[in-house]
Amino acid sequence: MVQAINLSGKIEKHLPAELVEFMQEAGLVAASQGQSLYLVGGVVRDLLLGRTNLDLDLVVEGDAASLAGRLAETTRGKTTIHRRFQTANLKWSRWSVDVATARSESYARPGALPAVKPASIETDLFRRDFTINAMAVELAPDRWVRLIDLYGGINDLERGLIRILHEKSFTDDATRIWRALRYEQRLDFKLEPETLRLLKRDVRMLDTISVDRLRNELELVLREKLPEKVLRRAEELGVLAKLHSSLKGDGWLSKKFGEAREASSPDLPPVELYLALLAYRLSDEESEKLIFRFRLGKSYAQTLRDSYHLKARLGSLADPSLAPSRIYQFLHGYSQSALNANYLASDSPTAKQHIHLFLTRLRYVKPSLTGNDLQKMGILPGPKMKEILQRLQEARLDGEVTTKQGEVELVRGLLH
Ligand code: CTP
Repeated sequence: MVQAINLSGKIEKHLPAELVEFMQEAGLVAASQGQSLYLVGGVVRDLLLGRTNLDLDLVVEGDAASLAGRLAETTRGKTTIHRRFQTANLKWSRWSVDVATARSESYARPGALPAVKPASIETDLFRRDFTINAMAVELAPDRWVRLIDLYGGINDLERGLIRILHEKSFTDDATRIWRALRYEQRLDFKLEPETLRLLKRDVRMLDTISVDRLRNELELVLREKLPEKVLRRAEELGVLAKLHSSLKGDGWLSKKFGEAREASSPDLPPVELYLALLAYRLSDEESEKLIFRFRLGKSYAQTLRDSYHLKARLGSLADPSLAPSRIYQFLHGYSQSALNANYLASDSPTAKQHIHLFLTRLRYVKPSLTGNDLQKMGILPGPKMKEILQRLQEARLDGEVTTKQGEVELVRGLLH
């Protein structure tokens, strides 16, 4: 059933004029090629909810590559074509849009990437994850921005429900289990009861998903505004245990994630810090397993290793008599996220204070004298010079010297 809902008001309100003009042009060009073009997926859902989303996904009944090629010419954009996937990307200096050929998907086995065949928009929408993500908006000039809602998306948006389109949805692609929890928590929706039943039945299908795709899902969770809500729900439904049986999505984690956000820049989710906090209560061996199993990248792996290494030394860092130079030696070299994770997770006020002192002041302390200055004083580059520079830094950290002249005198003293 094609509903006669027209989205022009919402589109003008929530999308920049440049993108609206582009869609008009794209609808016209597609029509001139005898193809029908649609706006689909998350952006339609978010337009209806009045949420900002500038990730435009277009679907064409026809051929995405030829349409994108023509649009690149008329709009002076740059296009990248993936023939195998029948998709294309159009890019301008400020925006980027994905165009895909409407398709059917079939899964040779659960969790495999689907085989793709060109199909109608109805079929393309039916292969999607949830009813609220399976709506389209027509872009043809004579049907401009009419909503296509074949599977009850509007109704579920109004009732706040996450509902799959068919019984095999989670079996075909178990990453949808994580997706369901992300949308449920992000939008403050509920899993529709039958969807919840099937999700619980199919949790074990997460074992069919490659580690790279699972890691990607975890990263998407950690990029959510409130990832702790998703992790809490994932624990409740046995989904989190599929990543690692010792991970917890409890009150401690929620509290620490909240503090992590307060301590971080407001527009960038502190993904690495979240990961360090999520893994914080694992043993060293369990952390190593997580790194190995999910093939975590260098930076994530380093943060988890630094984090458990420092955790084991927090007792010694809690000594109130530590001189600043000792605190510096103790903490320098650890990744920023590992330091932050230990700061947030430690129960010792002294250890916390020392990490804070290091992060805000000690790590920036440098002697005034440089290697060049020392050469002028007759010291050759090499281990001796390194030792002297280190000594100068210690003296600066502990307030033994406070001026360049003081440093010169210290060096002279060391040379005699
Ligand atoms: N999709 C799907 N099954 C998946 C992944 C994606 O059906 N496993 C479909 C959904 O229709 C989704 C669209 O592809 O809306 C685009 O996917 P993605 O960009 O991941 O989702 P968005 O809905 O844009 O979500 P988000 O707001 O989280 O970016």
